[in-house]
Amino acid sequence: MNATAPLVIDNATLPDGRRGMRVLALDGRIAAIGPAAAAQPLPAGAQWLDAQGWLLSPPFVDAHFHLDATLSHGLPRVNASGTLLEGIALWGELKPLLTEEAIAERALAYCDWAVARGLLAIRSHVDICDDRLLAVRALLAVKRQVAPYLDLQLVAFPQDGLLRSPGALANLQRALDLGVDVIGGIPHFERTQAEGAESVRILCELAAARGLPVDMHCDESDDPQSRHIETLAFHTQRLGLQGRVTGSHLTSMHSMDNYYASKLLPLIAESQVHVVANPLINITLQGRHDHYPKRRGMTRVPELLAAGVNVAFGHDCVMDPWYSFGSACMLEVAAMGLHLAQMTSSLGQRQCFDAVTVNAARVLGLPGYGLAVGGRADAVLLQARTPEEAIRLRAQRLAVVRGGAVVARMAPATAELALPGRPASVDFTRQPPG
Ligand code: FE2
Repeated sequence: MNATAPLVIDNATLPDGRRGMRVLALDGRIAAIGPAAAAQPLPAGAQWLDAQGWLLSPPFVDAHFHLDATLSHGLPRVNASGTLLEGIALWGELKPLLTEEAIAERALAYCDWAVARGLLAIRSHVDICDDRLLAVRALLAVKRQVAPYLDLQLVAFPQDGLLRSPGALANLQRALDLGVDVIGGIPHFERTQAEGAESVRILCELAAARGLPVDMHCDESDDPQSRHIETLAFHTQRLGLQGRVTGSHLTSMHSMDNYYASKLLPLIAESQVHVVANPLINITLQGRHDHYPKRRGMTRVPELLAAGVNVAFGHDCVMDPWYSFGSACMLEVAAMGLHLAQMTSSLGQRQCFDAVTVNAARVLGLPGYGLAVGGRADAVLLQARTPEEAIRLRAQRLAVVRGGAVVARMAPATAELALPGRPASVDFTRQPPG
């Protein structure tokens, strides 16, 4: 389809339950929705997408990913223990072998997967603990290349520790000078709690000075004494960074004393720090030192939401030193989050869908996100009637729309049957009752 041609999406169901909706996109923006769109004469040369009653959602957004490591599984070997620390060591073995071209090729291949899955915005951390900044240069080039079809935001990530790794602070500043968007950190990997807290202070002050957002890997451990989110919330308030700071993982909160957690939750809410949980990775990497019973390790998602904190989910890893699975499916992420947090109520399921759409868009600060008049005409048509059904089925992405143009299509999921007295084909959707 031509990117500049008007697009009419007809007979869509929206996430809020409105059915039979028409969406009109002009010049890459949503010009009208619902009765207003239906009342307008069809623009000349309009492209037509019949949604056939399926769910039209704003696109998926991944609030936490590592595009420099993705699709490198098996290079130079696999993670035998499956732990976070062996993953970091393995990444260290791979780094000297990387080339800018190989990083870019794998990242672009992943972006193809993402678009096909209706995932049109990714915040990716990029390791800056390499004096050559190969990954930074590669991903900045990828960011420019994919910009027409995918919003890529980069976080300068000192994987080996800001203070623990010689040259990390200078490299991080160089990465920001080259155009990386967000300041990252990893306080729990510094040598001491005090050094971790110091790294948080340095990085938040750098963000304040440069006017940039912050997104730190924070307390990604099973240690109930890890307290870096408290420090991050403190400096966020002290420096007036409210709304611009994200704490990623916060898995230690899973293991914290409940009294302390009850003090911490309002502090996070007060500071307006966003939280990103990474369910697939948290359930895989946390609790590795436990005998039975084993902890799940994901942060306290329902409690954070109830306290008024914006919580998103990220995929974190796909086929890399930490995780050998995944295919850019944010519905798989939502499903795992739902199970881990036992968010099985209707509200909980909706919140998990929001965690990979609107809440994640809020973390990235995406302008014009959402199915609203004047917003960007970005959407994904799912073979499901409701967000809950989309999660249950990891629904097919029947069409993906970017800037008013269809950029990907997927065949509906169905199966042929040869059973006596039964239909000749089957799909797995069910009409909602009523
Ligand atoms: Fe991460």
